[in-house]
Amino acid sequence: MDFLTSSTHLHITTWFVGIILFLIAAIKPNKGLQMALRLFYILIIITGGALFIEAMDYGQGLNYGIKLLLGILVIGMMEMVLVRKAKDKPTTIFWVLFAVFLFLTLFFGFKLPMGMNFLA
Ligand code: HEM
Repeated sequence: MDFLTSSTHLHITTWFVGIILFLIAAIKPNKGLQMALRLFYILIIITGGALFIEAMDYGQGLNYGIKLLLGILVIGMMEMVLVRKAKDKPTTIFWVLFAVFLFLTLFFGFKLPMGMNFLA
């Protein structure tokens, strides 16, 4: 499964597309789009999970654990916004949490040793 870990580009592509799909679905709710987004959640977790396993050799278990948790939380907040929007419930707090977790995930992701490291 080398193609999953030879670079971080596949992971970056999946979360980038996921966030774009989420923003479109949040502006203009659409069932098909939401199903496509859920497929991308799975792709984000598979590509991130493969990098996580690869990272066992880096001796930064805690930081990678935090990165994994933050990535899952970003996905969770996207899902909360869309589901609550569909039920006409308030979404503000979940938008705020989405932005905070996304920022922290990007920060940790780019700081960690694989792939791009302009924050290191
Ligand atoms: C929407 C959610 C996510 C975003 C925005 C995100 C963002 C990022 C970014 C910016 C990087 C750095 C890429 C690079 O340095 O080239 C990265 C790497 C990584 N991500 Fe994610 N990620 C998300 C979800 C996940 C999930 C769910 C997991 C685990 C299952 C995960 C695990 C990893 C791992 C292990 C790395 C490698 C870190 C390194 O050493 O550079 N990510 N991610």
